[in-house]
Amino acid sequence: MEKTKKLFNAAITAVGMYVPEKILDNKYFESIVDTSDEWIMTRTGIKERRCMENGATSDMATKACEDLFKTTKVKPEEIDIIILSTVTPDMLFPSTACLVQNNIGAKNAWGFDLIAACSGFLFALRTGASFIESGQYKKVLVIGSDKMTSITDYTDRNNCILFGDASAAVLLEPTEDLNYGIIDSILHIDGSGKDSLYMKGGGSLNPPTHETVDKKWHYIYQDGKTVFKAAVKGMADVSYEMMQKHNLKGDDVAYLIPHQANLRIIDATAERMGVTKDKVVINIHKYGNTTTATIPLCITEYYRDGKIKKGDNLIVAAFGAGYTWGSMLIKWSID
Ligand code: ACO
Repeated sequence: MEKTKKLFNAAITAVGMYVPEKILDNKYFESIVDTSDEWIMTRTGIKERRCMENGATSDMATKACEDLFKTTKVKPEEIDIIILSTVTPDMLFPSTACLVQNNIGAKNAWGFDLIAACSGFLFALRTGASFIESGQYKKVLVIGSDKMTSITDYTDRNNCILFGDASAAVLLEPTEDLNYGIIDSILHIDGSGKDSLYMKGGGSLNPPTHETVDKKWHYIYQDGKTVFKAAVKGMADVSYEMMQKHNLKGDDVAYLIPHQANLRIIDATAERMGVTKDKVVINIHKYGNTTTATIPLCITEYYRDGKIKKGDNLIVAAFGAGYTWGSMLIKWSID
């Protein structure tokens, strides 16, 4: 079947972020579980993460959007769609997108939540881009927001040291120059990974009971080793495939922007792509794994630091529960 020619690409035209003030450093974890700063640093690359003490995922997302709107002439009432990616919604319904819409006064928007765990932002960005490319929508707010501390078991040393809270957002608008913006994406799901990373309780399969609480089914379960292997292969393969598809060599890539789950997974992905360490965006040491917020957080920080520049080829890559994974090629379009 012949593909319809696109009239627009979706370009990121503004960014914003929020991280809570409270820091949980590795010393804190030494005081609550049997671990050490040395183990955490060498096995994961994490030094500290943030914790939202008062407030929920929507509060962080609202703050990230407010931060974004300070940097653009676009007003909240001009937003057409809000797509909010999360695995920690304030509640199952109404959607967190609705709560944020109300908080920021995006009174002409519709929107929804999207779940794809650590790949959620990538999936949400692809979804938002499709609405823009269709020509029917001009301004889409894509948010990644997770309060991972709300589903973390602080007696489980395998997992509690990994996660933190954060939110970040981007604004998508159309560009007629098809050389810029979101150029391509390769996305995958594979539900056979369902037994390695999940939160068992609270849904229709295991509605909350005293038993589900006693069994700790409302916390993240992860078989770290199995997920690690799948993540290394998934992220590296799909990023390499994107480079091959667009005939890019390591030198053509300005930055690899990987999901921040483990520094060793990031290093393996960069090595497979032939991308040198100076071109790998890293902030895992400061925030840990903030699930769907890691990628927009990286984009916001590196853009604001003047590191990401107009014309840069960015390869974004993620892997998460499901399994879900993918990569995206973005040609950065703002000064
Ligand atoms: N401190 C000290 N020792 C620890 C700790 C800790 N915090 N945690 C585990 N250990 C121990 C284990 O008990 C084990 O001891 P043993 O050999 O005596 O049994 C040893 O360290 C090694 O444990 P492993 O699980 O093999 O450690 P590994 O090197 O695999 O690191 C980690 C664990 C960090 C979880 C890693 O497997 C990982 O990063 N996995 C992938 C995470 C990921 O990408 N998740 C996907 C996204 S998340 C999402 O979608 C929500």
